[in-house]
Amino acid sequence: MKAIRVHEFGPPEVMKLEEAADLRPGPGQVLVRIKAAGVNPVDAYVRSGAYARRPALPYTPGADAAGVVEAVGEGVSRTAAGSRVFLSGTVTGAYAEQALCEESQAHPLPDNVTFAQGAGVYIPYATAYRALFQRAQAHPGETVLVHGASGGVGTAAVQLARAAGMTVIGTAGSERGRELVKAQGADHVLDHRAAGHLEEMTRITAGRGIDVVVEMLANVNLDKDLQALATGGRVVVVGSRGRVEIDPRGIMSHQASVLGMMLLTIAEADKVEIFAAISAGLRSGTLQPVVGSEIPLAEAARAHHRIMEAPAYGKIVLVP
Ligand SMILES: NC(=O)c1ccc[n+]([C@@H]2O[C@H](COP(=O)([O-])OP(=O)(O)OC[C@H]3O[C@@H](n4cnc5c(N)ncnc54)[C@H](OP(=O)(O)O)[C@@H]3O)[C@@H](O)[C@H]2O)c1
Repeated sequence: MKAIRVHEFGPPEVMKLEEAADLRPGPGQVLVRIKAAGVNPVDAYVRSGAYARRPALPYTPGADAAGVVEAVGEGVSRTAAGSRVFLSGTVTGAYAEQALCEESQAHPLPDNVTFAQGAGVYIPYATAYRALFQRAQAHPGETVLVHGASGGVGTAAVQLARAAGMTVIGTAGSERGRELVKAQGADHVLDHRAAGHLEEMTRITAGRGIDVVVEMLANVNLDKDLQALATGGRVVVVGSRGRVEIDPRGIMSHQASVLGMMLLTIAEADKVEIFAAISAGLRSGTLQPVVGSEIPLAEAARAHHRIMEAPAYGKIVLVP
């Protein structure tokens, strides 16, 4: 089989498509023929060598994928050869024609969801669900700002919040991105690059402020988010790419909470809830991952340039 291999940390071009040995499932493992692999910003952080967790070299990047089960190892009972699955992590890396995962990482992919969409389920939807419901405890009727709604996590957050009966304000930095956010069901769409866009919140909420902010770029926005909150408001920091100075009075005066999350470290019981909710949403069609571009696996470097440099538009997926 072919797989992307990284022999040294560095720029996107360190990812090379190579011949690799076919894989065999060990006990408790599932062998999956990958039909599409999702590209996430964390894949680029890890590849650059700047991320806190560094895999042993060489390695194959990627945690998100969808495909068909080819074989199962001893003791596997919940999936079988021929099943369509989406993965929540792998043992061997998702940017490949084949991957091994633990049985707990293979989830049924309903027939109404394409493989490309399936590759955009795990990190985006689990993150958005975790932020909205498990960290912010967002409720129907509340107003949610998805600050950075045009990408993978943002489109997922807009869909989840809308389906749960919240009023959703979504932001994007490009016209195309704002159209996408509107199409996902956001009630209000703003440009996060426009000066003063957060003042618009006062008008939109008739002076009440925002109940929940799902924040994709806290190093740019956190201080301004705090000023835009309603009393009892919560900000969940999902993404941040640097340091930020805040005025803590924004937290005091709104009796607010600033919460963090890290998908990799959540408890098993919380994961059970997350996958139950996501699977139900996929089956019913409430959740529909947005595939913005499909790029051949051999051009993984181009995908990493795009996710870090271009305006976001749903998910980028790699196709073997
Ligand atoms: N904590 C966790 O466990 C966890 C899990 C998943 C992701 N993340 C992080 O969350 C972030 C989003 O992930 P993703 O997969 O959605 O990435 P993505 O698909 O690349 O999308 C990035 C989003 O950030 C937006 N953005 C850019 N500049 C912004 C600004 N000034 N203010 C607000 N938003 C801005 C982009 O909007 P435009 O391109 O339209 O400007 C886009 O909506 C990344 O930093 C990622 O590393 C964290």
